[in-house]
Amino acid sequence: DHLRHVDSMATLPSGAGKIPELNAVILGESLASEEHDLVLPTHDFAQQAHVSSPQKYLEMYKRSVEDPAGFWSDIASEFYWKKKWGQQVYSENLDVTKGNINIEWFKDGITNICYNCLDRNIDSGNGDKIAIHWEGNERDVDGSLTYTQLLERVCQVANFLKDSGVKKGDTVIIYLPMLMELPITMLACARIGAVHSVVFAGYSAESLLQRVMDCKPKIVVTCNAVRRGNKVINLKDIVDAALSESIKNGISVDSCLTYENESAMKKEDTKWKKGRDVWWQEVVPNYSTTCAVEWVDAEDPLFLLYTSGSTGKPKGVLHTTGGYMIYTATTFKYAFDYKEFDIYWCTADCGWITGHSYVTYGPLLNGATVVVYEGVPNYPDSGRCWEIVDKYKVTIFYTAPTLVRSLMRDGNEYVTRYSRKSLRVLGSVGEPINPSAWRWFYNVVGDSRCPISDTWWQTETGGFMITPLPGAWPQKPGSATFPFFGVQPVIVDEKGSEIEGECSGYLCVKSSWPGAFRTLYGDHERYETTYFRAFPGYYFSGDGCSRDKDGYHWLTGRVDDVINVSGHRIGTTEVESALVSHPQCAEAAVVGVEHEVKGQGIYAFVTLVEGVPYSQELRKSLVLMVRNQIGAFAAPDKIHWAPSLPKTRSGKIMRRILRKIAARQLDELGDTSTLADPSVVDQLIALADA
Ligand code: PRX
Repeated sequence: DHLRHVDSMATLPSGAGKIPELNAVILGESLASEEHDLVLPTHDFAQQAHVSSPQKYLEMYKRSVEDPAGFWSDIASEFYWKKKWGQQVYSENLDVTKGNINIEWFKDGITNICYNCLDRNIDSGNGDKIAIHWEGNERDVDGSLTYTQLLERVCQVANFLKDSGVKKGDTVIIYLPMLMELPITMLACARIGAVHSVVFAGYSAESLLQRVMDCKPKIVVTCNAVRRGNKVINLKDIVDAALSESIKNGISVDSCLTYENESAMKKEDTKWKKGRDVWWQEVVPNYSTTCAVEWVDAEDPLFLLYTSGSTGKPKGVLHTTGGYMIYTATTFKYAFDYKEFDIYWCTADCGWITGHSYVTYGPLLNGATVVVYEGVPNYPDSGRCWEIVDKYKVTIFYTAPTLVRSLMRDGNEYVTRYSRKSLRVLGSVGEPINPSAWRWFYNVVGDSRCPISDTWWQTETGGFMITPLPGAWPQKPGSATFPFFGVQPVIVDEKGSEIEGECSGYLCVKSSWPGAFRTLYGDHERYETTYFRAFPGYYFSGDGCSRDKDGYHWLTGRVDDVINVSGHRIGTTEVESALVSHPQCAEAAVVGVEHEVKGQGIYAFVTLVEGVPYSQELRKSLVLMVRNQIGAFAAPDKIHWAPSLPKTRSGKIMRRILRKIAARQLDELGDTSTLADPSVVDQLIALADA
């Protein structure tokens, strides 16, 4: 273990910050360093970092919370605005008892995020800089675009969209894998003021249909197929199934722009609907490579992204333009200590928020060079990531704990075979990173030289909320450390009272930040109920969190009915409704269970229709049902036969007991006397390995 242990923080310069929780970091005396390994930034790193000391952080943080308007408008002024925002930089109400929840930033400011990502960087002399390095699933398939070339491509798609009748405010669904065409289409929508809704290309036809029905897109952009590892997935068939079903439900999509992904499938083999479907390669290149920008208000919608909640219906998280732009740009710059020379690679798919904020917008707003990888990280073998790092000389590598754990299991040789000298900052997102995975990432991948930014945030928050700033302070493996500028996290108890000092409870946020989502599409009431009613006055994240003596934050996972599988958010109800749509399933209850690689696995208790016998085939067909209804990533890891489920007398399923049975913590079942029929528990235990 190469970690640098320190006995005391006294070695850090001390300075009196006025923000009490953070003082512990600065003032060495209260640091309980014997309990944790503290990992100090190297001297060289700290010296060159944007935020090079706890004092510098405190200074900036203090201003950001005491004068948010001043702090954020100074930053916003570095971007291009056709017209500056109004007198009031922001306005907010986060208290349901005082009226509707309302958040606005830079209102009446007129801008365009695509312009700020591309034209602005080209105008400042970066036109020939590489914007995107694209690496295909196969080693020898790759390509790149400079900022100028990217703008040309974006304009062609934007012109096509306009010509197809897409106007400002219209929705476009993008169902594409990680081809360059995915960020290109997102930026094209933004350029013309259209609202994109990217649907992860691992979602089933059923899930795509649900989203089509909810946001009623003018057009769907897809490709015929994709190769992931050795598998070919026919995406066009999935789109066809969703769109023919949506027509039956009264929603018809006029046009389906289809990219021919030749390496996966030929045109001739693709099913086609004349009049609706258009080949990308046949139309897009004919359009002009320039396209005037549609200037929009800072509060005009930029995109919708569906995410899972505690009910079966996905939530359309809506982000607007101005605040999101400033927030993703700023968080990217500071949390990764971004510099002009950096080559940045984030392994996330643009189908998730990470791919929106930190593959596309955040990096491009900073004029960064971004690596986009089409394939899976362990194809053709577990060394692929480091091969890509060496090939493009990646300096910042951002990924998920699940990948770290799976590569860790495959052994160090796959890593050490490659140089990785270019790396200087590592990042982690999606779930808590366990200290052992953190150490492996730090020691083996980063050669004990690269700080790790463990970024806590959510689809709803738009950008990083609690994250290390590399170089600013010592890290503790597994802790997301301290809040980003302008973010005021609080930990509250059951009653909604803030708890101070060392504690654990529910993680909430006081006051708004520019990147916050503004509503759930078409359902502001659900927005208020889900996020603002539980603890009036605060945004409630749905996560549990503890804070240690030194003020470091430790995320402990979801406290609602959402499970986090390989960093993908899945609602237990979604999986349950997929299971009960199987004709032989009478009832289902799904819980999360610890999983070595995925973080959490999906564990389903299933009650069959009277008289149906248990069988391996039935298990398989239940799992298949979930794959088809949601997507392969939501497939249950275990089906546990349940003659009946443990319920209270009022009929409520006691999930607490199910979680313990799933985890085989049978001596921790707790009180079962309130169950309508306590013998159910013994039945379930008896069937645990059936
Ligand atoms: O439980 C938290 C977990 O992921 C949830 C948000 O999921 P999603 O909206 O899909 O966004 C994922 C990418 C930002 C959170 O409620 N989570 C995310 N990052 C972390 C995390 N938990 C602990 N540590 C993190 N760094």
